[in-house]
This record gives sequence, C-alpha cells and structure tokens, in this order.
Amino acid sequence: MSSKGKVKVGIIGSQFEADIHAVSFQMMPEEAEVVAIASPTPGNAEKLAAKYSIPRVFLDYREMLKEPDIEMVTITAPNYLHAQMTIDIANAGKHVVCEKPLCMTLAEADEMIDVCKRKGVLLAYAEELFFTPKYVKAKEMADQGAFGKVYLVKQSEKHFGPHSGWFWDVDRAGGGALMDLGCHGIAFCYWFLGRPAIKSIYAQLATHVHGDKTKADDDAICIIEFENGAVGMIEDSWCRRGGMTDRTEVYGDAGVTYADLHMGNALPTYSERGYGYAVEKAPSTSGWSYPVFEEHWNYGIPQEMRHFARCVRGKETLDATGEDGRVVMQALYAAYASAGLSQKVQFPYVPTGKKPIDEWLTRKAK
Ligand SMILES: NC(=O)c1ccc[n+]([C@@H]2O[C@H](COP(=O)([O-])OP(=O)(O)OC[C@H]3O[C@@H](n4cnc5c(N)ncnc54)[C@H](O)[C@@H]3O)[C@@H](O)[C@H]2O)c1
Repeated sequence: MSSKGKVKVGIIGSQFEADIHAVSFQMMPEEAEVVAIASPTPGNAEKLAAKYSIPRVFLDYREMLKEPDIEMVTITAPNYLHAQMTIDIANAGKHVVCEKPLCMTLAEADEMIDVCKRKGVLLAYAEELFFTPKYVKAKEMADQGAFGKVYLVKQSEKHFGPHSGWFWDVDRAGGGALMDLGCHGIAFCYWFLGRPAIKSIYAQLATHVHGDKTKADDDAICIIEFENGAVGMIEDSWCRRGGMTDRTEVYGDAGVTYADLHMGNALPTYSERGYGYAVEKAPSTSGWSYPVFEEHWNYGIPQEMRHFARCVRGKETLDATGEDGRVVMQALYAAYASAGLSQKVQFPYVPTGKKPIDEWLTRKAK
C-alpha cells in the first residue's frame, strides 16, 4: 500500500450508486483512482469496469479486499450489508466509505465505528449534502452571519420511489422514505446548524401510494428540535411524480435563503419528441421537462469523494463521519417511534425495535 500518489479505490456494487462513485472519481482524478469493482452478479462488475476502464473485477468483495494496493473501499450495496462490509474492509486494513444510511441498527453503528477505530482506518459517511455546492454556499453564508440567528432549516427530497426491489423490503432497507431520503435531511439540518444535540423529534408517516409493494412509509414529515432552539423540518416522499426534487430553506432573524438543487442548474425545456435524459428518476422527457446539467457535480459527489481521498492522505480532516451516520440512525429510531406513538419523542430515545421502522410498524399494528 502506498502512502503517496493517488489513493487506489475499490467499489463494492455495480449498479446505481456504484456508477455514480466511479464517474465521480474520474471527474476529479488528481487524488484517487478506481482500480477494482466487486459485484456478485456475473457480468455486472465487468460491464461497469468496461464503461470506466477499471482494470480489475471480482464476484466476491472479500477477494477484492485481498488486493494489497487498494487503500479505500466504497460500499454501494443495500443497507443491510453495510455493517458486515465495513467490518470486513476495516479488518483488511482499508479505509471505508459507506453509503447512507450508515446501517440497520445502532449496535451495528457502534461496531462499525469501533472496528474502524481499532484498525486505524477512516469510516467516512457518504452524505453528499455536506458537499453539495449550492448547500455549501448556503452554509457558508449562514456561518458568516448572513441570516442572523438561524431558527429554522427545511430540507426535502422527493421522487416516485426507488429503482431497485430491495429498497421496498423493510428487512433489507430498514425503513421507507424516511430512512432512505430523510437520512439526508436529518444529516443536513444537524450539519448545517453546527451539529447541536437533538432535543426532540416528531414524525408523521404514511403509506399513501405504494402499499401494494411495501410495508414501509412512502411519505414522511419530520420535525427536529435542537438544543440550541433551532428547528429542522424534513419532508420526504416516494410519492412525488415527475422526477426528483431536492430543496432547502434557511430562515434566520436577519435573513433567508432558498436553494432548489435542480432549478437554476436546469433548462426549462419543451419537447414533442423527447430526448435522452433529463434528471434522476424523471419518467419521461416529452412535454415540459427540466434537464439538469453537471448533475453529479451539483449533487456534490465528486467533491465528496475527493475529500475522502484527501483525508486518506492526511490533507484534510474527515467532515462526514461514522459518528454523523450514528446520530442520523438515532434520529431515525426516534422519528419512527414518534410516528408509532403519535407524539413527540424526547432525545435520547432508547430503541425498542430491531430496525428503525419496527418502532412504527409494531405500534401501528396494535
Ligand atoms: N447518496 C445518495 O444519494 C444515494 C443514492 C442512491 C443510493 N444510495 C445508497 O447506496 C446504496 C446502494 O444503492 P443503489 O441505488 O446503488 O442500489 P442498487 O440496487 O442499484 O445496487 C446495489 C448493488 O449492490 C450489490 N450487491 C448486492 N449484494 C451484494 C453483496 N453481497 N456483495 C456485493 N455487492 C452486493 C448489487 O449487486 C448491486 O450492484 C444504498 O445503501 C443506498 O441507500 C445513496
């Protein structure tokens, strides 16, 4: 393993987020290079490797972990696999980049954090909203005092539901729209406000549209009260037609800012015939559409991966950690419990269920 030059990266997974990681490293190639992909379905790793000229492929990620030159491994596998993969990567002496949400339970989160500490490797939590240029600008302005005392941060992500079957299965995902998308909003409000302790959480959940294919929530509203008096309001949905939206609003006693991730980086477009691609999860490109340019850059994923590689080299200090992911997990448990109890839940909340959504499903069933 080298301690200088480009950080050599392996990716676990070969589908949606793996492709985004692969292209993101290539967009900012000066710090890191992807040298291997591991994915269990025959042919899939080869396909992604051919697309981005990645030299090595593996069916079993454990075989990839034996490659001595690989220093950092990114996990783009379903949520229920994150903990075991993190433990295996850390035990192989390699740095970990784990996609959101961190894992399925708080016990898993503790074990992931602990093993990475013991093995002296980084546990980077891949929350790209900490690197999203528009949102970083909003935070810079807030930190410079532009809005005075910030009392409300709103964050929302919505689309018509995930692309892969496992997201809809609570045993492999751990939750629904709140866990899948709300993990971004919770992390964002916490980070934006300077990581204050959480005081209480209230959540309203429902399965409005997709009850035929999931037991999970497909629509979520969550309100977080922080110790410093500020409030985070998080809205997420798998019921929103027309492609993805991602928005933030910041309110302070001296100002306000609104950030719509996709508008302002998109071309208001009308087409009778349609065209190739507009934006993540948009079902069609005919009629009115809003094709976004520099999509990955606007989400912040290349910047995020560059930061992680620079942290491996000791050039920067990790700003999206396993501990951040753990705070989000704690909040998810409390939010699901709140929806189950139909009341505000005080923090810290001690989970009663195995995975976050059990806090809601078990109470809802009664
Ligand atoms: N940061 C973001 O905005 C964002 C966006 C999408 C997904 N994600 C996260 O990324 C992760 C993957 O999501 P996705 O959309 O790529 O899912 P996906 O279904 O498109 O891909 C999952 C991949 O995991 C692989 N996999 C399954 N079992 C495996 C195993 N035992 N060993 C190795 N690989 C295995 C599959 O073969 C597939 O390649 C999830 O945790 C998801 O929450 C994050």
